[in-house]
Amino acid sequence: MLYQRTATCGDLSSDHVGQMATLNGWVDAYRDFGGLVFIDLRDRYGITQVVFEPDSGAELQAQARELRNEFVVGVKGIVAPRLAGKENPKLKTGAIELRARELVVYNATPTPPFEMHGPAPNEELRLTHRYLDLRRPSMLKVFETRHRLGQLMRRMMSEMGFLEVETPILGRSTPEGARDFLVASRVHPGHFYALPQSPQLYKQLLMVAGFDRYFQIARCFRDEDLRANRQPEFTQLDVEMSFVDDVMVTSTMEKLVAEMAREFTGHAPELPLPRLDYHDVMERYGNDRPDLRFGVELKDLAPIAAMTEFKVFREALEGGKRVRGICVPGGGGRYSRKDIDGLAEYAAGMGGKGLAWIKVEDAGLTGPIAKFFKPEAQAALLAIFDARPGDLILIVADSQAISSLVLTSLRSRLAAELDLYDKSAFHYSWVVRFPLLAWDAEENRYVAEHHPFTMPLFEDLHLLDSDPAKVRAQAYDLVVNGEECGGGTIRVHDPVIQSKIFALLGLSPEQANEKFGFLLSALRNGAPPHGGIALGFDRLVMLYCGLDNIRDCIAFPKTARGTDLMTGAPGTVDPRQLKELHLRPIQGS
Ligand code: AMO
Ligand code: AMP
Repeated sequence: MLYQRTATCGDLSSDHVGQMATLNGWVDAYRDFGGLVFIDLRDRYGITQVVFEPDSGAELQAQARELRNEFVVGVKGIVAPRLAGKENPKLKTGAIELRARELVVYNATPTPPFEMHGPAPNEELRLTHRYLDLRRPSMLKVFETRHRLGQLMRRMMSEMGFLEVETPILGRSTPEGARDFLVASRVHPGHFYALPQSPQLYKQLLMVAGFDRYFQIARCFRDEDLRANRQPEFTQLDVEMSFVDDVMVTSTMEKLVAEMAREFTGHAPELPLPRLDYHDVMERYGNDRPDLRFGVELKDLAPIAAMTEFKVFREALEGGKRVRGICVPGGGGRYSRKDIDGLAEYAAGMGGKGLAWIKVEDAGLTGPIAKFFKPEAQAALLAIFDARPGDLILIVADSQAISSLVLTSLRSRLAAELDLYDKSAFHYSWVVRFPLLAWDAEENRYVAEHHPFTMPLFEDLHLLDSDPAKVRAQAYDLVVNGEECGGGTIRVHDPVIQSKIFALLGLSPEQANEKFGFLLSALRNGAPPHGGIALGFDRLVMLYCGLDNIRDCIAFPKTARGTDLMTGAPGTVDPRQLKELHLRPIQGS
């Protein structure tokens, strides 16, 4: 039997008093006061209190006494005001209750493995019973935000003249740099489709087709090591535009960014967003996606280190390494020697060989290495950081990579621990002019930093022949609160530049043709100058919902080991299916 509902559990108010109403939902809470049985009935829209009174009949009351949490029921009754003093102002329906007259139990469920309210239960349980986990009202909120973000993007992109186009899931491998997920072809023995790491090549082909402005809320698949902000399948707002330079792409996307910010934080950033140079950012913050809600910049301390007799510093400088540091406001007062030992261990966990520290006090500098700083070195150190009494200076002498990693991590950790910024604030910026290529010492060749179709800066084109490592790209990343939330480039549409880049990547014309022949031929057949970007949709939802883990904003995510605890994917398949795909079972399984 199905009761057609006349209202949802979030609808009824004092306006409905005296009316009959029918509700369907889940039993959220259950209270038996002897004479009276109360249940809170919950659905997506809210919670309504239902009361089973003695005068509703002994049979109905007995039926109500059988109800337990998460039973699925339908109730017919009369809307009545709650007793004076029993109203619940926190509930939309808190002024009324439904006096039950009839009840149907659709599903008498076993006791659920966790509560629907309160702190999140253990994640393994949550993922195993994801349908129950998603029933928790706090999860529903996340998916409402996710839905609204998608709607906002579709609306804005359409208003700006972009055309939504779907591209294949079964396709050719795209050069994003992660490992592909492969799908064996039944019809073509030994041949495989690759799931798209992004719609990159297809969207460029749409520009050759003259579509001019493309977007898609696209699923992407990457077989890479997972982290708190990475899933093997994730969603991008994917965008491509013709006849544009990098500023045109970023200024278009900024309008969307401002609209998202307004919608989800109530506050839009001032446009244009800051455009920060990659090299400058690496030097000042130690990574290419700095959290700019606070300062605490890295400083090059080589000239000051050279003024000291401290062996660690001298040896680092002589060995061509770097001596860099940060000054943490208030850190000197807050961190004891033991705490700082903890920070040194944290640094060691990242490969750091040590952490030198100095406290700034009214009387001067203190700490084990302060004695190596003569008065003029002390003055220089205070000046470079504009340091004040109470501050803590942390110094790392190491390679470029390790000094960057250790200091950028300490910077974020200490700023959070010392509350140096407003954690509810949002900071948006572009990081631009990334290097085009990175040297891969293992493979003894260059690899593309973004992908092989990225256009160099015009002023750096001449360096392609003489000093490729110095070539900067027309590339831009959107950084929000220390998270990379988007990235894109202007593409190469000139076959001569493209073949030079392929050569640097160690691809012969034949190999390039074999891999990307269709794209190269399309580029020769009337490709307009074009470029684009993709925003990490899930990462934006994470940020706007204040989540620490990307799994919490994906309905059915994978664990860090790439498994789905609910369905058991990836699973084994029938040997017959393997045979059809011309695959052999693994020996012993
Ligand atoms: P890129 O690889 O930088 O660019 O990806 C764009 C954005 O997608 C998000 N992202 C991820 N989110 C969750 N899980 C992952 N595994 C994951 N990997 C990436 C990030 C990232 O900034 N085709 C190009 C775009 C272009 O050039 O137009 C691309 O995919 O937020
Ligand atoms: P040592 O001379 O090894 O006893 O080190 C003296 C101090 O220098 C200790 O506080 C170490 O943590 C610190 N230290 C050692 N190596 C480094 C390094 N590479 N960078 C910064 N500090 C270091």
